[in-house]
Amino acid sequence: MSMGRNEVIEWKIEYEIGVQRIDFEHKILLDLVNSLKLAINKNCSKEWLVRIILEIEKFAEFHFISEENFMLNIGYPGYKAHQVEHFDLLEKFNLEKFNHKSIESFALFLEDWFINHTTTVDVKIKEYINSNNLNLDDCCYITNFV
Ligand SMILES: [Fe+2]
Repeated sequence: MSMGRNEVIEWKIEYEIGVQRIDFEHKILLDLVNSLKLAINKNCSKEWLVRIILEIEKFAEFHFISEENFMLNIGYPGYKAHQVEHFDLLEKFNLEKFNHKSIESFALFLEDWFINHTTTVDVKIKEYINSNNLNLDDCCYITNFV
């Protein structure tokens, strides 16, 4: 059952990009992957696992649009390439959803899927904000909770 790496993932500081709204959405996404792991470990029904996987997929779609809108709003030069990455992630999600060997391996795939993108692609948004000294209060988008 819950062997090896298939444990709940703790939020790490390295996942943060420093934009409250995006970090919050990333936390929800991670929480959903953890919910899947928890459901697997508790031997929940297949129907329940399917519902969580649906939630992960729909939330990821929403989150990617959210992140893309934010990138557009700050004039992020890597916007197009990042959008292609998101498209690719959804495609990989779908391929794996229908072809995974076991539900445990699918959960592990999702863990890497989330962590790799956040720490290698999303982190570049943070670098852009910092190196250009952007003031997010100038955005036409609310990034900090009121
Ligand atoms: Fe992203």
